[in-house]
Amino acid sequence: MNKLSLPKNSAMLSQDFTYGVATASFQIEGGVEKRLPCIWDIFCAAENKIVDNSNGDVACDHIERWQEDIDLIESLGVDAYRFSISWPRVITESGELNAEGCKFYTDILDELQRRNIKAFVTLYHWDLPQHIEEQGGWLNRETAYKFRDYTALIVQAFGDRVYSYATLNEPFCSAYLGYEIGIHAPGKIGKEYGKKAAHHLLLAHGLAMEVLAEHSPKTKNGIVLNFTPCYPESEKDQAASDFADDYFNHWYIRPLFKGKYPEILADLPKENHPDILAGDMDIIAHPLDFLGVNFYTRAIYRADDENIFMQIEPPAPRTDIGWEIYPEACTSLLTQLNNEYKLPPIYITENGAAMADKKIAGQVNDLGRIEYYNQHLDAVNTAIENGVEIKGYFAWSLMDNFEWAEGYLKRFGIVYVDYETQQRTIKSSGIAYKELITSR
Ligand code: FCB
Repeated sequence: MNKLSLPKNSAMLSQDFTYGVATASFQIEGGVEKRLPCIWDIFCAAENKIVDNSNGDVACDHIERWQEDIDLIESLGVDAYRFSISWPRVITESGELNAEGCKFYTDILDELQRRNIKAFVTLYHWDLPQHIEEQGGWLNRETAYKFRDYTALIVQAFGDRVYSYATLNEPFCSAYLGYEIGIHAPGKIGKEYGKKAAHHLLLAHGLAMEVLAEHSPKTKNGIVLNFTPCYPESEKDQAASDFADDYFNHWYIRPLFKGKYPEILADLPKENHPDILAGDMDIIAHPLDFLGVNFYTRAIYRADDENIFMQIEPPAPRTDIGWEIYPEACTSLLTQLNNEYKLPPIYITENGAAMADKKIAGQVNDLGRIEYYNQHLDAVNTAIENGVEIKGYFAWSLMDNFEWAEGYLKRFGIVYVDYETQQRTIKSSGIAYKELITSR
């Protein structure tokens, strides 16, 4: 099947439902010489961090090709484009606005506005300026205040061009992958770091929300979290799976909606605790206009004496990046979150699949990705039927790009990128996505 379909009466076929495509600055822009270095530049330059030893120096060369890329976005018929601002491109080392870097984004925003495409701006998608990392990065509480000040400058510079601001993308990845197990930049390793970094990230989010609420009250302001729902391998693993769920998933959402960390905090060794100052949790629990949910897969856990929990190898079917295809987890995640928390409207801010795409005779016939999208659109639709308020869906990604530690080897785009020529080719999934959107 090469079409995307939804049940006839689906709320996702209404014109009010927002469809978009998503990208992130470091993954597509290139143009490294026109900005300050960020933690991912340094991480990529270190040995054996990125599978193909690549970096973000050129990426999709979006810095030069952004106009063509906006044509592409428009040609897909989407209502919205989610992208991120590179903090090191728009801010100088002394914390002032970099006018040239800022203009790159205001030009993009103007062009989107002209074409009636809503701009969903993410303020932080992992590219921390390196000079801030050198002062401790997310382990330093000061970084949260720097993020607040950066947010204030951006909001002022962008004015009314933006539809929605997300403060952070996936603070779990920044904190856990970046500061606890070190497989993402800045590559720090230590159980004592993860939750400290997480707390400063969440504090940064709360402080930025205060700025947004005051200086950008008309935009929809929120945050994007990723969830990898946890399942026990067997009954005896339930407690381990619940622990993992609190450690990876609820750690980030509970403070936002309940003003506290999961109870397992008490079980963590003291030296791993975050430094929570009086008032922090109230700042973090600032009301949100929306919650962005990124969903790709689930994880299965086994009880393990040493580490409490251990993730087992995901069963088939899997995507090219090894993630299990398990759309039921998407429906139950959304339904459970909705039961447990008093949520604002939700946007699915990322969903998609890596596939080993091949361009043959000018075409990329990615039927596996179409199937993945079909299953997940259906899963989201079922969650809506269960009463969850979901207002939009963004495909990750607009185009193939730098997939972090996997480099350019994993392709997530609905548009194929030939990295030799920078030629873009809309894949069959891109055509199917367009047909779904424009058939409404
Ligand atoms: C998410 C990231 C995004 C992309 C997808 C595949 O965790 O937010 O940048 O890499 O995974």
